[in-house]
Amino acid sequence: MTKKPSYYNHNGFLMPIGFPIEGFTSALKYQAQPSDIFLVTYPKCGTTWTQYILWLMQHQGEPLSPSEKLEDYIPHLEEVGKDKIDKLPKPRVIKTHLPYDLTPYHPQAKYIYVARNPFDCVVSFYHHTRGFIKHYDFAEGTFDDFFECFIKGEIDFGDYFDHLVAWYHHKEDENVLFITYESMKNDLKAIIIKIANFLESDYLKCLNNEEIFNKIIINSSLENMKKDQQRWSSKRPENMPQFVRKGEIGDWKNHLSSEQKQRLMEKFMMRIAGTELKNIWLDQANFR
Ligand code: A3P
Repeated sequence: MTKKPSYYNHNGFLMPIGFPIEGFTSALKYQAQPSDIFLVTYPKCGTTWTQYILWLMQHQGEPLSPSEKLEDYIPHLEEVGKDKIDKLPKPRVIKTHLPYDLTPYHPQAKYIYVARNPFDCVVSFYHHTRGFIKHYDFAEGTFDDFFECFIKGEIDFGDYFDHLVAWYHHKEDENVLFITYESMKNDLKAIIIKIANFLESDYLKCLNNEEIFNKIIINSSLENMKKDQQRWSSKRPENMPQFVRKGEIGDWKNHLSSEQKQRLMEKFMMRIAGTELKNIWLDQANFR
C-alpha cells in the first residue's frame, strides 16, 4: 500500500506537520531589510553546508561549539516565524525554502540560491522525510512512495521544478547569487570567493587571510560536518540516516530504477525547456 508523508496544507502549499502553522503564516509577513542576507534553497540542496560556510565566514573560520545550534544564528524563517527573526541583530542571515514569489523581498537585500540536481535531491529528501518521524510520520515509507510525491510536486515546500525555474529566472539580478551544490563539491574555494565578492563587507576579510580561508574549508568539510551532528539537527533514531548523510554527487544511482530515471529526466527536460538549465548539471551530476 502506498504511504505518503504527512503535511499541512496552507492554501495549497504543503508544509511538514511538525512545523507550527504560525511560523509559516507569520514568515510570509516578514518585512525584508536592506541589510538582510537570505540563503534560499529547495530542501536538501545544500542548505546546511552553505549556512555553515556563511557562519564560518563571519567567525574567522572558527567552528561552532558542539553545544551550539547553527539555527540559533541563522534561523529558518518559516519554521521560527517573523518575531524571532525581527529580534535578530542586523545584518541578519536568514534561511528559507520558500519559493520566489513567497520569499520576503527588498531590492537591497541579498539572496544566495543553492540548486542541486533533482536526482540527488529526491534521494536526499526521501532519507530526510523518513528520518524526521515527528515532522512527517513517514518512517515506514519507501523510496518508491516518496518518488511519486516528488515527481508530482505533491510535497512540502512545493514542486522542485517550480522552485528551481522561478529562482533561475532571477539569477542575473544584481542581488541574487545562483550557485549549485555540485559546483561546491567540485571547487569549494571558487564558490567561497564568489560568495565573499557577492556579500562584500566583512565577508571579504577571509579572502585576504589564507589561514582563515583554509579553516573555513576544513571546518565545513563533509568529514567535519559529520561530527557532532546535533549542531545542525535534532537527534535521529539509530536506524535512520544522519542529517549529514552521504554528501555525494550521484547517489541517485543507488536508488532510482531505470524507469524512475527516465520519468524524472523527461519531467526535468519538459520543465526547464527554454532555459539554459539543461547544461548546468550534464557534466557534474552525470545524469545524461
Ligand atoms: P545527502 O542526503 O545526499 O547526503 P540540506 O542541508 O539542504 O538539507 O542538504 C542536505 C544534503 O547536503 C545531504 O545530502 C547532506 O549529506 C549534504 N551535506 C551536508 N553537509 C555537507 C558537506 N559538508 N559536504 C557535502 N555535502 C553535505
